Amino acid sequence: MKRLVFVGPPGAGKGTQAKLLCERLNVPQISTGDMLRAAKASGKLPQELVLKMSQGALVPDEVVIELIAERTQQSDAAGGFLLDGFPRTVPQAEALSAMLASRGLKLDVVIALEVPEELLVERAVLRRTDKATGKIYHLKYSLPPPGVELEQRADDQESVVRDRIAIYKKMTSDLLPHYEKLGLLKRIDGVGTVEQVSGRLFAALGGAEAGA
Ligand code: AP5
Repeated sequence: MKRLVFVGPPGAGKGTQAKLLCERLNVPQISTGDMLRAAKASGKLPQELVLKMSQGALVPDEVVIELIAERTQQSDAAGGFLLDGFPRTVPQAEALSAMLASRGLKLDVVIALEVPEELLVERAVLRRTDKATGKIYHLKYSLPPPGVELEQRADDQESVVRDRIAIYKKMTSDLLPHYEKLGLLKRIDGVGTVEQVSGRLFAALGGAEAGA
């Protein structure tokens, strides 16, 4: 099980669980959100896309498809990868499967993390990132050690988080049935501690295959 996709609303815990699963499977975590934020930090993201992200809107399909096409061809992804936050639309999913098919590859599994809306808001609004290392903390569930300089994502203001959840529902609603029809979808209850959720996830993927 080496080519995986994580789908889920903002704050569902995709990034948190993806890191743990990638360590087990020894594959890279490929997050379009992280790649776009890195491009923004280095001044390479066009201003209109910076604005879209800060408003919680999706960037155009062709931008993220291009990012994924390049990133998945790097040597560390030759043995597999976990896509975190891509695809989010059916056109992105179709582009991904065409891209993989052209390389003689296919997806193994799509994991949907399910979390109720009020918990999503709490997780996203209280998320903080270590400015120096990028490590993610939470002001209620995963406190940073003293002295860490924290920053908050521009799109983690409550009103923007609620907009992102609404956009997720609208843009991603067709994606889960798409993958369900293909027999690739596994739905995981994302409520509980990080350890409880990863336990469910590893069990659903099959302990041995998930590297247990
Ligand atoms: P992206 O970075 O992908 O953001 P997202 O999908 O909104 O997801 P988040 O990063 O907010 O949440 P997460 O599920 O990873 O949660 P996390 O593990 O951090 O995308 C950002 C933007 O980029 C988009 O809005 C769009 O503009 C653009 N973009 C990206 N991909 C795109 C695409 N494919 N197409 C078009 N545009 C795209 O957890 C959240 C917090 O909760 C953390 O503080 C964590 O510590 C805590 N936490 C996690 N799990 C638990 C738990 N079990 N218990 C308690 N706390 C927990």
